[in-house]
Amino acid sequence: MMHVTEVRAWEVLDSRGFPTVEAEVCLDGGYTGSALVPAGASKGSHEAVELRDGDRRWLGKGVRKAVENIRYIIAPALKGLNADIREIDEVLLEMDGSPDKSRLGANAILAVSIASCKAISHARRMPLYRYIMEVAGASALTIPTPMVNMISGGLHASWNLDIQDLLIIPLGARSFRQALDDVGAVYHTLRNLLSGKGFSTLLADEGGFSPRCGGCEEAIELLLAAVEECGLALGRDVALAMDIAATHLLRGGRYMLRNEGLYLSSEEMVDYLSELCERYGIISLEDGCAEDDLDGWRILTDRLGDKMQLVGDDLFATSLTRLKMGAERHIANSALIKPNQAGTVTETIDAIKLCKELGYTPIVSARSGDTEDSFIADLAVGASVTQIKIGSISRSERTSKYNRLLRIEDELVGVASYHGGAALRLGHSPTR
Ligand code: PGA
Ligand code: ZN
Repeated sequence: MMHVTEVRAWEVLDSRGFPTVEAEVCLDGGYTGSALVPAGASKGSHEAVELRDGDRRWLGKGVRKAVENIRYIIAPALKGLNADIREIDEVLLEMDGSPDKSRLGANAILAVSIASCKAISHARRMPLYRYIMEVAGASALTIPTPMVNMISGGLHASWNLDIQDLLIIPLGARSFRQALDDVGAVYHTLRNLLSGKGFSTLLADEGGFSPRCGGCEEAIELLLAAVEECGLALGRDVALAMDIAATHLLRGGRYMLRNEGLYLSSEEMVDYLSELCERYGIISLEDGCAEDDLDGWRILTDRLGDKMQLVGDDLFATSLTRLKMGAERHIANSALIKPNQAGTVTETIDAIKLCKELGYTPIVSARSGDTEDSFIADLAVGASVTQIKIGSISRSERTSKYNRLLRIEDELVGVASYHGGAALRLGHSPTR
């Protein structure tokens, strides 16, 4: 068995130009792995806590303290440990000791955890997804179906729109590569269409467009026009998805949709969303209610749960406890999986496994502030997750993951399966 010989760390930059943590883990024999962690903007309160310096540098967002925790606390403790991700993660958790990883910082812990995972896969001379497959005990390798951001709003786009993400899911493609062909056609057609109508085509945090249009319905109509212009059939070739990020709409116990001029109770919010989903044949709805609006989630699930995918992001926060709570209450039917909500590779993989046991579809996801690190691509393939959400198809922090998946798909022809639209629960057909 190989051992950890050294752990290094740096303060580097993420895609929004704010500091983040990079760690490098070295093993016997000179094998190394390094990792950069992402950062959310529309974060939930149940996530593992990332450590920020809170001083005058970088508007308080420096991560020097997290880097020092790696250099002076984590590194000495990890030296000599077996090169086994479960053992390493266990020591990291013990060392932190807090329930939310606020002592050492989830950013410090996750950077070391992912870097360790990569170093071990190198030492064992296996692709990263193979090592993850072993850790996850997965029985198959899967190329995930992408869910791709086209139009952004909310915290990712200066509130140009009330809802955070309008996405498309390529249903008809037979491979990941073909899926990106369809997505790319829509994305670039949408750009031309927006520009032709005099809208801005500047990109939001995840690389989606953010036209200052009349509201949610106009944004959906613009996206549908692009789909149509590409000759793609809604419901057959592609379908729409939304991430409402409703936690961030709550004002005084009601949902405030400023651009729509709406101020809704949970019941009214569910009515509003159901109507949109039915009209436009939306097949996946994320965070339609806020993280702690469990009654709202109950109403939403009763209304739509057997017709479409209802994804919990802030709701579950990639937490085993939150997932079990959700399953007991029968709310949502799918969960977003973000490694930095959990804080270690092991807990992320265990959350994926728990989702599958509970009958919830896991969806591996990037963050709005991300990096060139492509770990989540290997995570989805190795843990056999059928869907992935990376943002739009532009900007290098996004393409690092798409490109990694393109290479993996090529490497695994005849080995890994791609499920396309079959990865989703489908229900509505559009009534528009
Ligand atoms: P975040 O957004 O990374 O800013 O939290 C992503 C999402 O809500 O899915
Ligand atoms: Zn979300």
